[in-house]
Amino acid sequence: MSLYQYFTSKGPSGFGYGSTAEEVTQGLSLEGKTYLVTGCNSGLGQEALRVLALRGARVVGTARTVEKAKEACDAVKGSTVPLACELSDPKSVRACVEEVKRQGLELDGLICNAGIMALPKLEKAFGYELQFFTNHIGHFILVTGLLEQLTDTGRVVMLSSGAHSMAPKEGIQFDNLSGEKGYSGWRNYGQSKLANLLFAKELARRFAGTNKTANAVHPGVIRTKLGRHMNSVAGFFFGLFGPVWLKDVPQGAATEVFVATHPSVKDTSGKYFADCNVAPSRKDADDPELAKKLWEVSEKIVSELPGQ
Ligand SMILES: NC(=O)c1ccc[n+]([C@@H]2O[C@H](COP(=O)([O-])OP(=O)(O)OC[C@H]3O[C@@H](n4cnc5c(N)ncnc54)[C@H](OP(=O)(O)O)[C@@H]3O)[C@@H](O)[C@H]2O)c1
Repeated sequence: MSLYQYFTSKGPSGFGYGSTAEEVTQGLSLEGKTYLVTGCNSGLGQEALRVLALRGARVVGTARTVEKAKEACDAVKGSTVPLACELSDPKSVRACVEEVKRQGLELDGLICNAGIMALPKLEKAFGYELQFFTNHIGHFILVTGLLEQLTDTGRVVMLSSGAHSMAPKEGIQFDNLSGEKGYSGWRNYGQSKLANLLFAKELARRFAGTNKTANAVHPGVIRTKLGRHMNSVAGFFFGLFGPVWLKDVPQGAATEVFVATHPSVKDTSGKYFADCNVAPSRKDADDPELAKKLWEVSEKIVSELPGQ
């Protein structure tokens, strides 16, 4: 397949690498539906917020602070609800959960989009490596806290990444969740993204017998603020060649928006999507024992956090 064919081809869903969030929702009315998007103030989350609202949905846009969420929500046309949700602060995540409940918001979709990537030095929150804590534990608290707010056909979409394949060979280093026994920005990012994928699959197993779904997505490689921690050489090449071989933001947001809204995937659960189609993931992402263990360890971590 030539590069041109790769960039323009469509998969079984009718969409592909070059599809945009607007294209995958073309003709869809999301009137009467409510979606929550984390990280709504930047990159893919900002575009997901815009396009979901454009199609008539009410969108709960969360960001680290309510000011950031408000600014992002004010910038789009449509119905939005700005909320603070700082994922590395359980108190903030729990307050977000409580506010969604207080407002009686029933969610047709929960798009766990926010994330940090490749922190050059080990940083921690509550004793846990920060990418694992932010990308996985923060979203674990949010999603498990909001399960009752999901509609009967509610969809949970976890932003994973092709970089989940960079996770340690044992999958999740349960004996090194602090990062103190060894840390690499990319490997630990990979671990956090494998955790997002395992969480989606375990949640899908727990949803079995219902009409709710949980899936994970790789959005593609897109030049957003996510690369802020990349070193200057990598950043230089990213900047130089990015416009040629990377997806743009509307294309990058397509897969998460597609999985959250498209009627053709209403019954698809426990899958990993890339370019708006089901895609293969690392083998151990399909290991139910690993996923179950991650869930149980996450529950224990959360139960031991201050304020429980
Ligand atoms: N871009 C890519 O090539 C790519 C590839 C694979 C997967 N992904 C995944 O796609 C998702 C979106 O990334 P993006 O490219 O759109 O990146 P981005 O432009 O950097 O946006 C990330 C969003 O997450 C928010 N965020 C970061 N830490 C947070 C925290 N502790 N609490 C709450 N929100 C937090 C950011 O808020 P602030 O602006 O306030 O920091 C921002 O709104 C991420 O999960 C990423 O792992 C992206």
